Amino acid sequence: MITRPRRLRANPLIRGMVRETRASADSLIYPVFFEEGSNIKAPIAAMDGQFRYSPDRAKEIADQCLEHGVNKLLLFGIPKEKDEKGSQAYAENGIVQQAVRALKKEYGDQLYVITDVCMCEYTSHGHCGILCGHDVDNDETLQYLSKIAVSHAAAGADMVAPSDMMDGHIAALRGGLDENGFKNTPIMSYAVKYASKFYGPFRDAAGSAPSFGDRKTYQMDPHNLREGMKEAAIDEEEGADILMVKPALSYLDVIRELSYNTNLPIATYSVSGEYAMIKNAGKAGLIDEYGIMCETAASMYRAGADIIMTYYAMEIADAIRKGDIG
Ligand code: PBG
Repeated sequence: MITRPRRLRANPLIRGMVRETRASADSLIYPVFFEEGSNIKAPIAAMDGQFRYSPDRAKEIADQCLEHGVNKLLLFGIPKEKDEKGSQAYAENGIVQQAVRALKKEYGDQLYVITDVCMCEYTSHGHCGILCGHDVDNDETLQYLSKIAVSHAAAGADMVAPSDMMDGHIAALRGGLDENGFKNTPIMSYAVKYASKFYGPFRDAAGSAPSFGDRKTYQMDPHNLREGMKEAAIDEEEGADILMVKPALSYLDVIRELSYNTNLPIATYSVSGEYAMIKNAGKAGLIDEYGIMCETAASMYRAGADIIMTYYAMEIADAIRKGDIG
């Protein structure tokens, strides 16, 4: 007797009925880069199709997202001036703070604005914290991260997302937010963040590559899974509301494992290198860009991600609507 799984693949209707992974545009977050100045929409060379905007043009990209049904943004800032202590990261009129204000003023509750909390775009040395010699001083850095989160919340951010990988960061942010009247601002932690070469194009886009050394003393070793569960458990214990695994594609096993280990929503960040590989291989005619975008997005949802941050957010939202994903 032949067992016939093909019976349930006979046509699109039945395939749609038995599909195990359902996706929704509600789960998509689009990352946007802002730089200081006015009337800027500058193409990012390393990330074809992505741009850096000045805050006065925030509406342009937000409108575009909303047209595609994407109503969540993750904001990154590129300041004019960098210094040792990354002071523009927590300046009242810093670049992210300006962009948040512009967006919240225009859209109110129609757009959910999340901010990346980190120092690497703001420090002259490009590391994610305050240096002591050649190392990042963990505990000294915590108070700065907390200040950044509070200043984002004060500007109107709906959610903060710390990507620094310092120990104790969630507790520090939660404490700072609570003390300053932001006890209802959720924290999405980049809890399981690997020291990855997939961030290459982003560092080009944000000008945030470390000027010496690497990030391996704070970001995780790509070989480790159990350590990821430890990081996630610590952040959950400290009060994170959402846990993130980053990057996505090479870490689908980590997403799956985390789904067995937490009751929090799980996010994953399909990072710049993942985007650039698919985009450029597509442009070179080597792969079907749209098809691979759909397949990789489906794999992230299938692995257990509830939320995806991706530079393809608008295209994925369209693909979901067409039934090509979920
Ligand atoms: C900041 C940060 C990085 C990314 C998100 N937040 C860069 C890094 O850690 O070097 C990478 C995002 C991407 O590659 O798309 N720490």
